[in-house]
Amino acid sequence: MAPESSALPALQLNANASSDRTVYDLLMANRLSCVLTVAVQMRVFDAMQTKGPMTRAALVAHAGVTLRGAHAMLIALYAAQLLVLDPSGASDPQHADARFMPSPTAATYLVESSPAYLGYLVEMDGDDFLTPEKLRHALTSAKPTVYGATDPWAEQGKDPVKAERFTRGMRSISTEPARALAEHVLMKGPDAPTAVLDVAGGSGVHVGALLSAHSDRTATILELQSTLETTTAYLASLPEAVRRRVSYRPGDMFTDSWPTADPNSGRAFDAILLSQILHDWAPRECGLLIKKAFETLPAGGRVLVYEKLVDDDCRGPLMTAMVNLDMLMWTEGQQFTPSLLRDLLQAGGFTDVATHSTTGYWSVTVARKP
Ligand SMILES: C[S@@+](CC[C@H](N)C(=O)[O-])C[C@H]1O[C@@H](n2cnc3c(N)ncnc32)[C@H](O)[C@@H]1O
Repeated sequence: MAPESSALPALQLNANASSDRTVYDLLMANRLSCVLTVAVQMRVFDAMQTKGPMTRAALVAHAGVTLRGAHAMLIALYAAQLLVLDPSGASDPQHADARFMPSPTAATYLVESSPAYLGYLVEMDGDDFLTPEKLRHALTSAKPTVYGATDPWAEQGKDPVKAERFTRGMRSISTEPARALAEHVLMKGPDAPTAVLDVAGGSGVHVGALLSAHSDRTATILELQSTLETTTAYLASLPEAVRRRVSYRPGDMFTDSWPTADPNSGRAFDAILLSQILHDWAPRECGLLIKKAFETLPAGGRVLVYEKLVDDDCRGPLMTAMVNLDMLMWTEGQQFTPSLLRDLLQAGGFTDVATHSTTGYWSVTVARKP
């Protein structure tokens, strides 16, 4: 099998380059995500993993594409290092007998049976692909535009299919960072949180990871009832020893009161998790959430804000800066920088604010109630 290069294809950003390559790379990034999305929709990686390496004729039979289409798709995915050549076929990727299979990256993140599967996110994004037209609309609108003129959370409350699709997408995004946070040094040792309130906990993937990694912890998920249907279904797949330490609190995090103690253990919450919540909201709503977190926690309790941050100088990471455009379309919020987050937490009375990276683009910002 041809090895996957350690230098993965990346946008070569160099503002001082005298070639046109930077602009080409940026423009073609759209083609890359387009072919990735369609491959996930057509279950190409799954089919190669389960049925074995595929020639272009096999892809025609699997996906109902033309021979020319199969060739273009395979070459694009191969150049993107999502496919590698299987040694049982031709060594020339242009040859009709070339047999393609998922690269290690694709096998980990794009095959549905993998625990780190990101395909639900790819599918969700594919349904609401950020086109220039949609971006223009979002840029000129004061409110989220993803579902037209309606509030996204209200829309998902009315439409279980949308709620389920979104929550599944969030689960894809959060699986790897949830595992990394659960295993982070902050979650270990005598000072680690024992009872966690996961505010707007989505699919429950954070609580699942935390309680699976630490048998002495309990957690409560505060979520909208419409989302909790998916949350409970997902957590039902976890072992009983984990499930019995999870509590659910249906409610609106803005208008309903937050519980102060875990119903299972009776312990006062010593940590509140806000994972990808503050980035959904305008500064006023963020201030309200921080105030509620502060009022809920006992002295010494901590708030954990889990986000993909943009650097203070806004020069990167490029991916996170681009996610800001998704926030524009989907929410009323933004990707935070460390200093914006620190100011927000300090304005709410929290002290000892510190940001720790966990995995990939992710970091957790921890602050303590004095
Ligand atoms: C971006 S997702 C984050 C989910 C999860 N914390 C994670 O990191 O995977 C935002 C979540 O906020 C929830 N949400 C939105 N408005 C809410 C409200 N008013 N009260 C409670 N939850 C809310 C949504 O249902 C959704 O699950």
